[in-house]
Amino acid sequence: MQDVEMLYSAESIRNRIKALTGEILRSHAGDEIVLIGLLNGCFMFISDLARALSATPIRISVDFMKVSSYGDSQQSSGEVRVLQDIHLSIHGRPVLVVDDILDSGHSLSTALRILRTHAPKSLRTCVLLDKSGRRQVEIRPDFTGFEAPNRFVVGYGLDYAEQYRALPYIGALKS
Ligand code: IMP
Ligand code: MG
Repeated sequence: MQDVEMLYSAESIRNRIKALTGEILRSHAGDEIVLIGLLNGCFMFISDLARALSATPIRISVDFMKVSSYGDSQQSSGEVRVLQDIHLSIHGRPVLVVDDILDSGHSLSTALRILRTHAPKSLRTCVLLDKSGRRQVEIRPDFTGFEAPNRFVVGYGLDYAEQYRALPYIGALKS
C-alpha cells in the first residue's frame, strides 16, 4: 500500500507472537486461560495468539467484548461505552484480555473494570502494541508485543475509518 509505511512485517509479528506465547506460559500457573479479545481491532492478533497457545498443553477458551470510545477516528475521547459484553462465565477463571493497541488507556481500563465485576481468578492483559507515551490513564499491560512509535498505525486488525484492517502487516499512515 502506497500510503502506508511498513513498521512490523508479517514475519516479525509472527516471531514476536511466538516469543509472547512463551512469556505467557512461563508466568502462568494452571491448565487453562480464557482469552477475551476487545473487538474489532484484536481479531487478527487474538486468532494468531490463540493458535500459538493451542500448540501448548494449556486449554484455551476465547470470548469477545466490544467497547467503543467516542471521539474522532484517531483520538480517544475518554468516554467509553460497552457495545457487547462477554458470554462465557469467567468467575474463578484466569483471564487474559487481548487488545490491538494501548493508547490513552481508556478502552482497556474500562474493559478491565467491567471484567473485574465477574470475579475472575486472575485478570491479565496482552496488547500487541503499546504507545506508552500517550497514556491518560495509569495502566501497564502484563504482556506487550511491540513498543509503538507515537504515530497512527494501521493493519493487522488496526483501522483508520474502517480501512486497512485486513493488511497482514502493521504500518504507519503517511500523512
Ligand atoms: P485508547 O482507549 O486510547 O487506549 O485506545 C485504544 C483503542 O483505540 C485501540 O484498541 C484501537 O482500536 C484505537 N487506536 C488507538 N491508537 C490507534 C492507532 O494508532 N491506530 C489504530 N487504532 C488505534
Ligand atoms: Mg481496539
